[in-house]
Amino acid sequence: MPRHLVAPASALPPGGRLLVEAGGKQVVLFNLGGELFGLLNRCPHQGGALCHGTAVGLVEADPAAPGQIRYSRPGEILRCPWHGWEFDIRTGLSRAEPERLRARAYPAGVTPDPAERPAATTVPVGSSEGRIFVDMP
Ligand code: FES
Repeated sequence: MPRHLVAPASALPPGGRLLVEAGGKQVVLFNLGGELFGLLNRCPHQGGALCHGTAVGLVEADPAAPGQIRYSRPGEILRCPWHGWEFDIRTGLSRAEPERLRARAYPAGVTPDPAERPAATTVPVGSSEGRIFVDMP
């Protein structure tokens, strides 16, 4: 799976989002508490730009308390700006029909920071330390 280095790690702090290009595709990256996730910047409904979506939390009926709702995972559900379809940022799965609909998700992360490596570890020439990556199939 080709790895694309797209930005310095500092470009995407916790709670942030960043639109990048990787492998000829626009990918919107999210930093959820230090974990990075990538979604294709195109809603599967009619192509809305997911980078302009609103990040909300998960609202569910509380099975233990009929008539009550539960709110969790703040900022982890992305609402498309065009018609409001919602996707789980961690997986791309649609909230309404996860078995049938999804936003294309790409693995993303940060290459290790050389300052955090053990002293005995060597760093290869031309390495990509401290960069955000997106893996594309
Ligand atoms: S284009 Fe995203 S909900 Fe319609």
